Amino acid sequence: MDKIKMMTKTMVACAQNMVKELEDQASSNKNGETQVELDKQFQELTADIISHTAFGSSYKLGIEAFHAQKELQEIAVKSLLNVQIPGFSYLPTKGNWRKLTLEKKLRGTLMQIIQSRLSSKGSGYGSDLLGLMLEACIATDQGREQHQLSLSIDEIIHECKTFFFAGHETTSLLLTWTVFLLSVYPEWQARLRLEALRECGKENPNGDNLSKLKEMSMVFLETLRLYGPALFLQRKPLTDITVGETKIPKDHAIIIPSAIMHRDKEIWGDDADEFNPLRFQNGVTRAAKVPHALLAFSIGPRSCIGQNFAMLEAKSVMAMILKKVLIHTFP
Ligand code: HEM
Repeated sequence: MDKIKMMTKTMVACAQNMVKELEDQASSNKNGETQVELDKQFQELTADIISHTAFGSSYKLGIEAFHAQKELQEIAVKSLLNVQIPGFSYLPTKGNWRKLTLEKKLRGTLMQIIQSRLSSKGSGYGSDLLGLMLEACIATDQGREQHQLSLSIDEIIHECKTFFFAGHETTSLLLTWTVFLLSVYPEWQARLRLEALRECGKENPNGDNLSKLKEMSMVFLETLRLYGPALFLQRKPLTDITVGETKIPKDHAIIIPSAIMHRDKEIWGDDADEFNPLRFQNGVTRAAKVPHALLAFSIGPRSCIGQNFAMLEAKSVMAMILKKVLIHTFP
């Protein structure tokens, strides 16, 4: 957490650029207002933040890798409903060619970043996410460092792709839905602005003052409950298991519909469909009738490894926005 807290400075700097752009746009209008599609802004902002925090000084290459991966993701989504003809992906079509070029570019760029980091190790691999991962995967033998990584270069490349995939759109959606809810519930917008001004004052948000934004945490948790980006979780049992009275044979996929479970009145109470951040005032485990009812970050050993990072990022951005900007929705 301490290492992640150190990344707040980068998160705040990126958010500051976005807020400055909004201020400039608003001040060039007579009424001091501007109309923007915040989901687009948040997509750009969170891409900027994850590229900076994952790849630090190699940020420029990082953002190139990000764009290649984003385009590959779009191609994959578009082809989801296509009829899959065996062997078609090997034909030299325009689409296949583009995919191959992007895959090469993504791998080559990430490889370049990783290799330069490995070869320039002086006092460490760096304090960004890649640096932390490289430090962590240097195997140690009785306290002595072995010069062999516990992950292969391919695995490190996959982890870098996961940072982008897992850490970009999720946080961007959380910010978009929060801003939407704060415009629909201006009383909560006012409460959060007051809290941000009280705890951060004129200072920029930092790891310490952000941890004091309790009401903001409650609003994020409630947003994740109602509009969490992960709609369901999937698991596959390695052996035959019984859950309650249901027998699930080995290797059968289980879908856990978290978005539906988050609105279950038996668990969350009669106001399950309503926006009520106060349900989280005594902590996340006391918000519902069962302690682990909020599955937005999943639970257990495969729960979201980036949840503290995401909350800190969302708080940095929202504190910066609320200190300067009044939000309305336009019909
Ligand atoms: C609001 C933001 C986020 C939400 C709602 C979210 C949600 C989730 C969920 C539900 C899972 C578990 C998936 C499953 O069990 O099948 C997960 C896994 C993961 N998340 Fe996040 N995530 C967020 C942000 C981030 C960020 C910012 C990062 C990285 C910087 C990240 C990295 C990961 C990784 C690496 C995993 C896989 C962990 C594993 O399999 O061991 N996430 N996330």
